[in-house]
Amino acid sequence: MENYSSKVMDHFRNPRNVGEMENPDGVGHVGNPVCGDIMELYIKVKDGIITDAKFKTFGCGAAIATSSISTELIKGKKLEDALKLTNAAVAEALGGLPKVKMHCSVLAEQALKKAIDNYLVKTTGKGLGIEFKEEDHEHAACDSDEEKK
Ligand code: FES
Repeated sequence: MENYSSKVMDHFRNPRNVGEMENPDGVGHVGNPVCGDIMELYIKVKDGIITDAKFKTFGCGAAIATSSISTELIKGKKLEDALKLTNAAVAEALGGLPKVKMHCSVLAEQALKKAIDNYLVKTTGKGLGIEFKEEDHEHAACDSDEEKK
């Protein structure tokens, strides 16, 4: 556990904005069936701004912490600004992640893109034009026991 910053541990132990959202404007679901890590992100959008965000993540501690901080980072952001949020920026906001856990932060970035894409498809009929691949989330270092140490 000493590889994790205090911010990672804080968001892992006390995740913000957890739970399902009623009537979300956009939903992003990403996951990897190999290890079972899944994230679902819900957003509410008003006048092009993300007014609320919630998540459900079934995954490792780093995935939960990155999901949690992502919801904080995107609230109040314009959609186009939220889309610029990279997994590296999410990890940085947490004070960094161990190298082998960087891939976990990809879940949050992908879920956010998918949620915005879902919102755009629902409201304009046209999404981001991105092809989402489950394989984008690599699991070479997937070890759920690591979080329990
Ligand atoms: S999200 Fe798969 S090990 Fe962290």
